[in-house]
This record gives sequence, structure tokens and C-alpha cells, in this order.
Amino acid sequence: MSVLEARDITKIFVDGDTATPVLRGISVTIEPGAFVALVGPSGSGKSTFLSIAGTLLTPTSGSLQIAGLEALGLRERELARLRNRHLGFVFQFHHLLEDFTALENVLMPVYGAQHAIDATWRKRGRELLVRVGLADRISFRAAKLSGGQKQRVAIARALVMKPELVLADEPTGNLDRASSSQVMSLLRELSRDEGTAFLLSTHDEAIARRCDRTLTMVDGLLTRPPSEQVA
Ligand SMILES: Nc1ncnc2c1ncn2[C@@H]1O[C@H](COP(=O)(O)OP(=O)(O)O)[C@@H](O)[C@H]1O
Ligand SMILES: [Mg+2]
Repeated sequence: MSVLEARDITKIFVDGDTATPVLRGISVTIEPGAFVALVGPSGSGKSTFLSIAGTLLTPTSGSLQIAGLEALGLRERELARLRNRHLGFVFQFHHLLEDFTALENVLMPVYGAQHAIDATWRKRGRELLVRVGLADRISFRAAKLSGGQKQRVAIARALVMKPELVLADEPTGNLDRASSSQVMSLLRELSRDEGTAFLLSTHDEAIARRCDRTLTMVDGLLTRPPSEQVA
């Protein structure tokens, strides 16, 4: 079963009399554990597609399955549950709660799922923080961490519930080249170790080259890779 099956997704933003077509028929299938880049110039629709794939935004038309579940037409409560169980999110800005510790931030999705935070969850949270290289920062308040460290906490948070798919929108967009390269290596290792699929957007070709597969978006459409083009 695919972790993501999007078919003919379109999105037209309507504001008064103005209709802006942003996605013009996007179909994407992602298999378990795949590590996929979504590249394309700024404004091509990458963030809009990731928001739709993450059920944070409703498409104008098309169909969407996440881990085999039909995602369109669900009520907000059911959507929140689907998101919480099957998806992880990493954004360009980490969105950590600054007054909470690294561990508390990592455990936020567990609170969201209304599970009691027991020793098993704390252990999972701690292990992930060790895994992302923050063994000595577990009890630091997020406000005291550097940008790169915060992004590592955000990555641990995205993985805590063992989602089948992590959607990452320019996850290295705010980092310098060295941190960015380290974060990419880390994401790859985590994908392999945890068996989690990743779909990550970037406008950096060097980052895209480190993925198994690249989807290129131009003006709301995916271009076909050369291997699929008819000669
Ligand atoms: N809420 C919105 N209303 C109108 N247009 C939007 C809205 N959100 C995004 N857009 C437009 O959609 C296009 C694609 O944006 P986006 O998905 O953010 O692209 P990317 O992430 O590839 O830079 C842009 O032209 C942007 O201005
Ligand atoms: Mg974007």
C-alpha cells in the first residue's frame, strides 16, 4: 500500500472576482520508505501541494489517499486524527514552543493524540533527541537552542508518532550550507532506520540530488523525468 496517492489534484485560490489557478493536475504516488524531493522555482506550487498532501488545505478537485485512507471529505476531527497517526511535518520555520524543553516539544504530537505521556513515550522522545544529536540538550528550553538545533528538535517531533510519511517544506531553507548538509544526512538516515517515507520540497538542486527520486514542479504541473518522455 502506498503512503501517499494523490490523483489529479487541482487548486484554484479564489479571492473576490480573482481566481488564481495554482495546481493544475498533480498526481503523485509515494511508496513506503521512499525519499523523494519536490523541486521547482519559487511560486510553482510546492508549498500548496504539500499543504494539500498534509490535509491542511482542501484541493479544488482530485483525490487523496494517505496510508490507504480516503482523506477528502473527512470532518476536521477525523482529519486531525489521520494527520496525527500517519503524517509528520517539518517546516522551514521550526514552530517550536519556546518556553518548553526540547523533550516536551518532541512529545507535543503525543499530547495531541491524547495519549498519557508515560515512561515509554518519554523514552521514545529521549531516544529521538539522542538520534538527532541533541543528547546534551534534552532538558534545555527551546529558546536556548540554536537554529540548527531547533530544526533537529522539529525533526524528532515529526517522527515521534512513527508516521508513515513526513512532509517537509524547505526543511533546510533557513540553514547555512554546512548545517543544511548535516540535516539532509540525518533525514536520510532516519528515513532508513525508521522506515519512514519523506516528501521534501527544496529549490536547491544539490539537496534534490541526495534523494531517491525527484519530482519537478513548474507552474502548477509536474514535468516528466527524461526517462518517461517519449522520444
Ligand atoms: N492563499 C492564497 N491565495 C492566493 N494565491 C496563493 C495563496 N497561496 C499561494 N498562492 C499563490 O500560489 C502560487 C504558488 O505558491 P506556493 O505553493 O507557495 O509556491 P512555492 O512553495 O513553490 O514557492 C504563488 O503564485 C502564490 O502567490
Ligand atoms: Mg514554498
